[in-house]
Amino acid sequence: MSKLIVANWKMNGSLTLAHDYAWALTQHLEEKPIPHTLVVCPPVAYTSFMVGRLVGASIAIGAQDCSTHKKGAYTGEISCEILKDIGCTYVLIGHSECRQNHQETEETLAAKMTLAYETGLIPIYCIGETQTERDAGKTKDILAQHLSFIDQKPLIIAYEPVWAIGTGRIPQDSEIQEAVLFIHDRVSRATVLYGGSVTAKNAGAILSLPGVDGVLVGGASLNPHEFWHIVTAV
Ligand code: 13P
Repeated sequence: MSKLIVANWKMNGSLTLAHDYAWALTQHLEEKPIPHTLVVCPPVAYTSFMVGRLVGASIAIGAQDCSTHKKGAYTGEISCEILKDIGCTYVLIGHSECRQNHQETEETLAAKMTLAYETGLIPIYCIGETQTERDAGKTKDILAQHLSFIDQKPLIIAYEPVWAIGTGRIPQDSEIQEAVLFIHDRVSRATVLYGGSVTAKNAGAILSLPGVDGVLVGGASLNPHEFWHIVTAV
C-alpha cells in the first residue's frame, strides 16, 4: 500500500549532503522502484540545488515553514509564492519547533494554511501534545484544539507528540493508533502521518498500524541510506 514518507532535515545538512543525498536516493530508486510518495524537506537554502539534482526522479521537495504574508517588507521571511517558484511542492506548517520558537498562534497557522492552498503548495499540518499535556490525560483535547480551525479539505496531518521528537521515545503502537484514528475521525479524507523518533528499526511496525498513512522523519532522515531503509520498511 502506498505511503507518504517525508524527511525533515531541520537546520542540518550541507551542500555536500544535498548532493550525496540526491545521488543516493536516485540510485536506490533506480534499483528498486517503490509504491510510496517521497518528500524531502531540506533547509530552504538547498532547495533549488536539490530540485535540479532530482529532475526526473519521483521525489518531491518540501519547505519546513513559510511566511504568513504573501509578499512585501518582511525581511528574512519566505513566502509560499517563492517556495513554489523554487520548486517546492509541499510545506510543513505548525511543526512543534516552529510553534515553540516562533510563538505561532492558531491565527498564524490558519493564515499559513490558507496561503499554502492558494499558492498550490500542499501543506503538511503538524500537531501533537507535550509530555505535560499527555500526563494530564489531555492528548485528544490538544489534538482537537490543534484541528479546530482547520476546515474539512483533504489534508495531510502529521501527528508528532512533542515528547517523542528527537528523544528516542515513542508512544506504544496502540497509542499511535488511537491518536491517528482520532484524527481520521475528526478530519475526513485526511492523510495522517506519524512523526517522532522514527528509525529504520521501528518504521515497519509504525507504518503497518491501521490509520498510519506515512511517517515524518527527522534525525534518521539525515542519512540517505537509513532513510531508504525506512522507505522500504513496508
Ligand atoms: P525526530 O525523527 O528526530 O524525532 O524528529 C521528528 C520530527 O520532528 C520530524 O518533523
